Amino acid sequence: MQVNPGLEGVVVAETAISHIDGQQGHLIYRGYDAKQLATTSTFEKVVHLLWKGHFPDGEEEKQWLVKCRQSQTLSDEMIRLIQTIPERIDMLSTLRSVLVTMENPDWPPTWEQAIRVLVQVPIIIAARYRYLHHKPIVPPRDDLSFAANYLYMLRGDEASEAHVKGLEAYLILTAEHGFNASTFTSRVVTSTESDILSAVVAAIGALKGRIHGGAPSEVDDMLGEIGSIERAESWMREKLERGEKLMGFGHRVYKTTDPRAEALRTVVQEYAANEPWFDFAVQVEQIALQLLKEYKPHRSIYTNVEFYTAAVLKAIQLPAELYTPTFVVSRTAGWIAHILEQASHNRIIRPDSRYVGPKCAKITK
Ligand code: ACO
Repeated sequence: MQVNPGLEGVVVAETAISHIDGQQGHLIYRGYDAKQLATTSTFEKVVHLLWKGHFPDGEEEKQWLVKCRQSQTLSDEMIRLIQTIPERIDMLSTLRSVLVTMENPDWPPTWEQAIRVLVQVPIIIAARYRYLHHKPIVPPRDDLSFAANYLYMLRGDEASEAHVKGLEAYLILTAEHGFNASTFTSRVVTSTESDILSAVVAAIGALKGRIHGGAPSEVDDMLGEIGSIERAESWMREKLERGEKLMGFGHRVYKTTDPRAEALRTVVQEYAANEPWFDFAVQVEQIALQLLKEYKPHRSIYTNVEFYTAAVLKAIQLPAELYTPTFVVSRTAGWIAHILEQASHNRIIRPDSRYVGPKCAKITK
């Protein structure tokens, strides 16, 4: 039995949802280039594409939007919980607790359940954020797009078109990414015929880790600690000498620049080309890439999506505490696509392991 640590290179299922070409740096959603979708489509349409396999058109699109908007609710029970969970509990743990108060969904997952979970996530995050900042909770509006509504609920005012466009590009680019750790988690839970909420809640737990969805705020911290370009090389050298990782770099699948990082860099350029912090981030990236070549010459370590996630979310003025939660907002769409696909031809996921403990230990008194 061959063991592949981290399941590297192990193919566990067929999927029609997305394809990653790690050598060429391409990401395809159901046949469409994700980078192009980020600037030409809307998040709602991309969700439809991921879940149903085609773009909605005409009447189908109208119906789709109506369903998305009608499913937006913030019940009194949810508000009570948002205000009761102690403030020391982090946002994603709060989200998990509040989500489970939604109506108990049955197996197998349905479109209606799927839409309800997707639209509920940003509503809960925004409500908790405002509560923690001693501001009145802002209910969702049914005349705004998914991206515009998220910003509206967070800020209490309608966001500029530029900010909505920037967020929408981010949401589309990070909605789906194959069998990453959190998505795989959602498929494992679904494979036991557990409900959609349990699968999403488990995926949130997986995404929260600092080397998965927790990375963008770590990138922000890293840039903050480096402080000035003069310190960048020595700071990163010290990290690498200690065998530590540079946040925002490296990927299991991409052996070239993550296409999402490139697309997000272009998005940020539109908003922040003249901002000193953006120039600083680009320079730090260049130094980091040189050092990674020097320290890990055989590893092909390049910039990943999280490096420029921090930049794009900063450019649209989201605080760092919302970086990982906003990743959950987008990735819920991908998790649900996989939950529906897994449920449609399910077999319980149950891999093997190789036992390496003692074979025949004697019990002594
Ligand atoms: N900085 C320095 N060295 C690195 C980095 C990095 N960012 N990433 C990988 N390496 C090195 C490791 O030290 C290891 O070197 P060694 O073989 O000499 O010991 C080698 O490259 C392989 O590293 P693994 O951790 O085994 O690679 P894996 O494919 O398991 O991990 C991961 C990929 C988790 C993304 C890793 O690159 C990492 O931790 N990066 C930093 C955190 C980060 O940016 N995460 C966001 C990823 S994107 C996302 O989840 C949405």
